[in-house]
Amino acid sequence: MTYETLLVEQRGAVTLITLNRPQALNALNSQLLADLITAFAAFDADDSQRCAVLTGSEKAFAAGADIKEMASQSFADMYGSNFFAGYDKVTATRKPWIAAVNGFALGGGCELAMMADFIIAGDNAKFGQPEIKLAVTPGMGGSQRLTRAIGKAKAMEMCLTGRMMDAAEAERSGLVAKVVAAAELVDEAVKTAEAIAAMAPLAALATKEMVNAAFETTLQQGVVFERRLFHGLFGSEDQKEGMAAFVEKRPGMWTGK
Ligand code: CAA
Repeated sequence: MTYETLLVEQRGAVTLITLNRPQALNALNSQLLADLITAFAAFDADDSQRCAVLTGSEKAFAAGADIKEMASQSFADMYGSNFFAGYDKVTATRKPWIAAVNGFALGGGCELAMMADFIIAGDNAKFGQPEIKLAVTPGMGGSQRLTRAIGKAKAMEMCLTGRMMDAAEAERSGLVAKVVAAAELVDEAVKTAEAIAAMAPLAALATKEMVNAAFETTLQQGVVFERRLFHGLFGSEDQKEGMAAFVEKRPGMWTGK
């Protein structure tokens, strides 16, 4: 399958998706969203694929939603079409995926990165929610996900001033899981994805689901949800294999059942 705005390749069990609108610093237009929805759905549906990496270029992960596409839209256009609602399909991806961010991740670019299960940043990464400078606000979840990731004080300051945060500050603030050299970013992210891809698939799905539940429920409900998923994994062949392999001092061989 080829895409107008993405490059997609499979490296073993890892799907590498690269945003590919270099002329617009990977600005996120409607075509790109349609391509992302198709690519993530294909990844989720392919049993040979266990983890994905979404990346951009060394200059820009994505410099935001496409301002030129939005500029002349009316309220009726935006509200009527529920503009950006398609990103809910991207966040509905059940398998784990990582955003590998080099360069600018601004506005919708920062918001898309925050939809990932975690972010790995190159040391040249710059994150920001500069929408206020365009007389609008974040619209793809930035005010919510950034606040949950880095807390109210910093999120409010970032969204109200539109300033950029560099990779070191992003790591300090908990926005990114780790920072690596920009030139090594994709290889490092794929290596991390390969480690995840080597885990028992049902355990990986359950882990993602329960960590995400921490943002949606009370502590008590979340702990019970975790425990029930944990119990459920004892119905899997891979749990028997994983624990037997530990006792027998050998690597586990997963069936995904
Ligand atoms: N939308 C559309 N086109 C964009 C774009 C965007 N978000 N960001 C960059 N581009 C285009 C530029 O217009 C330019 O195209 P032309 O050559 O045709 O003029 C090309 O990409 C290269 O950009 P620059 O010449 O500006 O590159 P630079 O290195 O001088 O600056 C930058 C880089 C600081 C990232 C600058 O491009 C910039 O500020 N971009 C906009 C950032 C922004 O405001 N993002 C938020 C968008 S709104 C949003 O995302 C809403 C939401 O919540 C989802």
